[in-house]
Amino acid sequence: MTTTDQQASLIATLPGHHYTDPELFGLEQERIFHTTWFCAVRAADLAEPGRFRTVQVGRESVLVARGGDGGLRAFLNICRHRGARLCTAESGQVKRSFQCPYHAWTYGTDGKLIAAPNLTSMPDVDRAEHGLVPVALREWLGYAWVCLAEEPPPFEEQVVGAVTARLGGAEVIDGYGVDGLALGRRIGYDVRANWKLIVENFMECYHCATIHPELTEVLPEFADGYAAQYYVGHGAEFGPDVDGFTVDGTGGFGRLAGIGDDQDRRYYAITIRPQVFLNLVPDHVIVHRMFPLAVDRTLVECDWLYAPEVLDAGHDVSRSVELFHRVNEQDFEACERCQPAMSSRAYAAGGVLVPSEHHIAEFHAWVRTALGLPGEGHL
Ligand code: FES
Ligand code: FE
Repeated sequence: MTTTDQQASLIATLPGHHYTDPELFGLEQERIFHTTWFCAVRAADLAEPGRFRTVQVGRESVLVARGGDGGLRAFLNICRHRGARLCTAESGQVKRSFQCPYHAWTYGTDGKLIAAPNLTSMPDVDRAEHGLVPVALREWLGYAWVCLAEEPPPFEEQVVGAVTARLGGAEVIDGYGVDGLALGRRIGYDVRANWKLIVENFMECYHCATIHPELTEVLPEFADGYAAQYYVGHGAEFGPDVDGFTVDGTGGFGRLAGIGDDQDRRYYAITIRPQVFLNLVPDHVIVHRMFPLAVDRTLVECDWLYAPEVLDAGHDVSRSVELFHRVNEQDFEACERCQPAMSSRAYAAGGVLVPSEHHIAEFHAWVRTALGLPGEGHL
């Protein structure tokens, strides 16, 4: 066995080029982001008919819109005439239809082609045939999840089942009533790092003692470097002097209605592959959605969700938001520190996973399998 082979059996990380190679990123777009369920839009952002949002899913721009009938639908954001991008705005509201800015073909919010200049003189153009291309959509936890696959995998299995299995049962997440919560704050982060660095960072807490002083004050067991993911079954416990999940440990907003004693004063962290992090604490829920834009760039949209009564009463959520906002900034800075080094000769063969990070190897195995790459060794 050569030294490289020995390292290969020890090294559990992916080699550096997985974070820098645009071709591999293209393969990920095709085999991960175009095939799995992707958490796209918060449904309440599109409350009224005509509201829409466009999001990048893999290589595709996806248009999610609330129809006149109240239903949410998703389409490829491409005009069927000559392929112009239909909606260039990131979000907005239309009265009844979307009109292509190129030759003015017009589509209903249900995706049907409803008008085109001179269409009556073009008998060959069948309106029913030239509607927007639909994308599968499911609503769960108050979000619209989309899947670009022609035959999407079962949502219950791939998303709901994966989350509840990690929590040890559906009832754990049910207690938070996530789909009934209201948006207290949203912060977007433009992270100059590969999406997998962000996932790997979220999956381990070996770094917590070094870069998360505020978080380890609230969750002292994180200072020992245990992975947040190990705690999903029972949650990481708040420190004895901590009153709430806030930047200074002062009190939050009590408990959400469905939270019992066993879930009180605990933090649960769950990764929903490929691009969602769910953070559950007694009085709020934090949802991260990642939008990988390039091999070295990922947008992260983070929502802080509270009981509607808390927001209606005008409570100040800033101390509550500030804790995870700082965690986000600390984490993303760490990811951005790693990104330029991924192309170094020193990382060509990858790095090492210490014991408390070993579960990250499962994520790497999942990525390799999805890409159809061999499970071991270097690529
Ligand atoms: Fe849209 Fe021609 S490309 S109307
Ligand atoms: Fe972190």
